[in-house]
Amino acid sequence: MMLGPRDPQDPDAPGDPGTGSPSGPGALLVPPASPGAGRRRRQWPLPKQADPDAPLLVVEDLRTYFTLSSGTVRAVDGVSFELHDGEALGIAGESGCGKTTTALSLLRLLPANAKIVGGSVRLYGIDLATKSENALRRYRWREISVIFQGAMNALNPVRRVGDQIAEPIVERLGLPRAEANRRAVELLELVGIARDRAAAYPHQLSGGMRQRAMIAMALACDPAIVIGDEPTTALDVMVQAQILELLERLREQLGLSLILITHDLSVIAETCDRVLVMYAGRVAEEGPVRTVFREPRHPYTQMLLAAIPNLDSDRRLLGTIPGAPPDLRTPPPGCRFHPRCPLVMDVCREVVPDEVRHADGVRVACHLYPPGGDGARRPIPLPEVAGANAPGAPPAPPAELAR
Ligand SMILES: Nc1ncnc2c1ncn2[C@@H]1O[C@H](COP(=O)(O)OP(=O)(O)OP(=O)(O)O)[C@@H](O)[C@H]1O
Ligand code: SF4
Ligand SMILES: [Mg+2]
Repeated sequence: MMLGPRDPQDPDAPGDPGTGSPSGPGALLVPPASPGAGRRRRQWPLPKQADPDAPLLVVEDLRTYFTLSSGTVRAVDGVSFELHDGEALGIAGESGCGKTTTALSLLRLLPANAKIVGGSVRLYGIDLATKSENALRRYRWREISVIFQGAMNALNPVRRVGDQIAEPIVERLGLPRAEANRRAVELLELVGIARDRAAAYPHQLSGGMRQRAMIAMALACDPAIVIGDEPTTALDVMVQAQILELLERLREQLGLSLILITHDLSVIAETCDRVLVMYAGRVAEEGPVRTVFREPRHPYTQMLLAAIPNLDSDRRLLGTIPGAPPDLRTPPPGCRFHPRCPLVMDVCREVVPDEVRHADGVRVACHLYPPGGDGARRPIPLPEVAGANAPGAPPAPPAELAR
C-alpha cells in the first residue's frame, strides 16, 4: 500500500513535514545527542496531535471480540497496561489467552471478524482506537511495527532482501529510492548482516538471517515501539539466543521500546523490564520482572513459573498446569481461572476480582489480594504442577534471576 506525500494539514502527519529525512544518511543509526530531552530516541518529529509529556503507550480497558457463527469470542476483555520510553514489556500466558489479539489491536491489524468493542489505545496521548483506518495506517511501521512469529517466511521469495527493506522507507517516509537503499544496507549491518547480502534473495539466507532481515524491516521507519510476537519460536535454540541478544542490543542502541510476546517465561526474564501475565483475555498479574518472578502472587503466575524448568534441571520434567484455558465464547463467571485454581474460594466463582496495584508496583487480579490488603504472597500448594519443584516450596525463579 502506498502512502501519499506528507500532508501538512493532516493532524496525523509528523509535526514538521520537512524533507522526510532526519539528517542525512546514517542518522537513523546514531542516537540523538541529548538523551534527556523529550523523546530521547526520536529521530522523526512526533505526530502533530502528540502530547510530548504523555506516556509512550497507555492501553486502557481494551476489549476485542471475534464474531463466529457459534458465538462471540471475548479474546481480549478489559486489558490495561502502559509502555514507557525505552522499556521492554513481556506478555506471557498459555496459548489462546489473547496475547496476539492484544498486540494486533494496538494498530487494528485484526482479522475481519474481530472488532475493538471498548477501551482506548493512546500513543503519545493520541487515541488510536478512534482513528479511521486511513489515519491509522500512518502509525503502522512509522510508530509501531510488528515482527510476527515465523515472519522470516513472509519475505517475498523473488525480491532481493535489501529492496524489501527499502520499500517501507520509500512508501512510508517518502524518501528517494537511493537513500532508502542506503538505509536498508545500514539496517542490515545493524542487525548483523553484511552489506553485500542486501543483493541476496531470501532463499540464499539462513532462517536466522531471514529473521534478522525481518527485524531490519521492522526498524526501517525508526518506530518508537517494536512488537515481537514469538519472534524466535521457529528458530533453533542457538539462533534464538542470538536474535534475543540482537533485540536487547538494538533496544539499548536505538532506545527502542519493546513488547515481547512469548510462551517462554525465561525469555522474558532475560530480556524484559516488566511482565504482563494474561489469562483468558484478561490481565492476571503485571509488574517488574524481578519482583513478579521472585514473588509471584497470582496462582496462575505461580503455576506458570513452577511449570518451567531451571536451566540446570532436567528439561524432561517440564510441568504442565492441569486443565485447559476456557472457551472464550463462554468463559467461566467470576475469576476465569477458578476452575483450575488450587486456592479457589466461593467468591471466585461469582465475582470478577479487581485489579489491585500493590506497594511494590505489582498489579494482581485475584481475591486473595483484595484492595487494602497486605498483598503478602499466598503460595499455592505444590506440586499442583506435574514435574514442579519440591512440594510446598515456592516456585523457583528462572535461573537468570537466581544469580
Ligand atoms: N480469527 C479468529 N476468529 C475467532 N476466534 C479467534 C480468531 N483468532 C483468535 N481467536 C481466538 O481468540 C482467542 C485469543 O487468541 P490469540 O491468538 O490472541 O491468543 P494467543 O495468546 O496469542 O495464543 P498463542 O499463544 O497460541 O499464539 C483464542 O480463544 C482464539 O481461539
Ligand atoms: S480469584 Fe480465586 S480462583 Fe481466581 S486466582 Fe484468585 S484465588 Fe484463584
Ligand atoms: Mg499468539
